[in-house]
Amino acid sequence: MPIVIDEKTQEVVVDGGDRFPLYSKEGFRLLSDLWLKVGWDQKHLYTFTWLGRPIIQNPEDMIRMQEVIYTLKPDVIIETGIAHGGSLIFYASLCKAMEKGRVIGVDIEIRPHNRKAIEAHELFSYLTLIEGSSVSAKTIETVRSHIKAGEKILVILDSCHDYAHVLKELELYSLLVTAGSYIVATDGSQEYLNVTPRAQVQYPQCATWGQNNPKRAAEDFVKGNADFVIEEPKFLFSESVVDFRITHWPSAFIKRVK
Ligand SMILES: C[S@@+](CC[C@H](N)C(=O)[O-])C[C@H]1O[C@@H](n2cnc3c(N)ncnc32)[C@H](O)[C@@H]1O
Repeated sequence: MPIVIDEKTQEVVVDGGDRFPLYSKEGFRLLSDLWLKVGWDQKHLYTFTWLGRPIIQNPEDMIRMQEVIYTLKPDVIIETGIAHGGSLIFYASLCKAMEKGRVIGVDIEIRPHNRKAIEAHELFSYLTLIEGSSVSAKTIETVRSHIKAGEKILVILDSCHDYAHVLKELELYSLLVTAGSYIVATDGSQEYLNVTPRAQVQYPQCATWGQNNPKRAAEDFVKGNADFVIEEPKFLFSESVVDFRITHWPSAFIKRVK
């Protein structure tokens, strides 16, 4: 869907046909979709830290996640995909502020320099690090051993973003999610990032991303599982006409409804 942004006429033209006012909700949505792709290409997401640790996320996704966590107040937040540890520290900082909760992180490889820095962090006491594939039986058993009966559990999937891997994670980790809470399948934006120059250079397999992505895994998971629905978290505050997230996590919030 090629778009042309014309500042002079204050219009966004889609596919050489439909014209939308630039200064409108739809204009903002079109610019935001493009901004997400250009930002991903330029590795804008690789420029942030949280309390000293690199966090590879779109800041709006983190603010929205904070809204979900503050509303839910989980006992345990499980995240697959640690990398430098920034998102684990982000969730730990919320636990400290709320005086509730702890965080379990899983990664197939915790690099020694990252482990050292995470273990030296002021908030390390809120964290449990588990090294292993997120879908191995041993990892799941270890994760389970750190959870007590009756605890409210939130799960965030941010490891390998292949369709089959995310679907497997959804099957395994959804068993831990408590009613009213979510399992969040991040980075569904992979669906439309294959057009970016960086994807085409760095990820030869990106031609499959239109189908091979976490968003499709989430959609297929809920089709086969009546206990879960994809549900956008409500905005807790808004004085804007904007009612959509500017997100790398489309269709990510999968809520356990029963
Ligand atoms: C996108 S990074 C995580 C970013 C981190 N959550 C953050 O916000 O800063 C993805 C991580 O997933 C890990 N990973 C890849 N495949 C995995 C697997 N099968 N099981 C567990 N972790 C995996 C990688 O080692 C990498 O550290």
